[in-house]
Amino acid sequence: MFKTQHTLAFFIFLCALSDVYGTFNQLQLVLRWPASFCDDKKCERTPNNFTIHGLWPDIKGTVLNNCNPDASYTTVTGDKFDKRNKHWPDLILTEAASLKHQGFWAYQFKKHGTCCSDLFNQEKYFDLALILKDRFDLLTTFRNKGIIPKSTHTINKIQKTIRTVFGVVPNLSCTPTMELLEVGICFNRDASNLIDCDQPKTCGTLGNTKIFFR
Ligand SMILES: *[C@@H]1O[C@H](CO)[C@@H](O)[C@H](O)[C@H]1NC(C)=O
Ligand SMILES: *[C@@H]1O[C@H](CO)[C@@H](O)[C@H](O)[C@H]1NC(C)=O
Repeated sequence: MFKTQHTLAFFIFLCALSDVYGTFNQLQLVLRWPASFCDDKKCERTPNNFTIHGLWPDIKGTVLNNCNPDASYTTVTGDKFDKRNKHWPDLILTEAASLKHQGFWAYQFKKHGTCCSDLFNQEKYFDLALILKDRFDLLTTFRNKGIIPKSTHTINKIQKTIRTVFGVVPNLSCTPTMELLEVGICFNRDASNLIDCDQPKTCGTLGNTKIFFR
């Protein structure tokens, strides 16, 4: 009993820590590389292209969380489902299961989407993520610079490639074994302009550290 309460208290404490409120000053489109994401998980699908992890409103380099505990997620079907499923798939689930259980999108919306609802309602939030994602063919950008799947490159090279093509500093994240996992691309509040990500991460402190593009 004591242990349960203890765990619960600790959990509440963690939640309290992770909830940050305020007005966002950047929107971060977080793209994930499925092969790396799926390396240590049981995925039902591993598309050969970047997919969306989320669209995150940030305030000064910190991700905002759970801004409206009363918000509810609206399930999508038909064309809307197909589009979302293609570009923002729940890799853990099959397509059929994703149609039934839209927990990944519900989670992303409640945790992040509720933090930019002053500008984007739920429908606009999801549409915006898809529109922004379609502007970045990172796969081709990478391929043009020789960054192809199963090759290794320095952090500098990956960062510079994104900077050169998109003109802004991305927020990179890697797995613990230094595989490129996610690329965050940042926008101003209404997503009309690309901006440098605030307090970007780079996977390591040394630019010549090698990262693997699985
Ligand atoms: C940068 O990306 C990492 C990993 O995706 C994330 O944890 C972090 O919050 C991001 N930084 C910002 C400022 O959003
Ligand atoms: C990968 O995704 C981008 C962005 O949505 C798209 O433009 C591109 O055609 C896709 N590439 C392949 C090979 O599917």
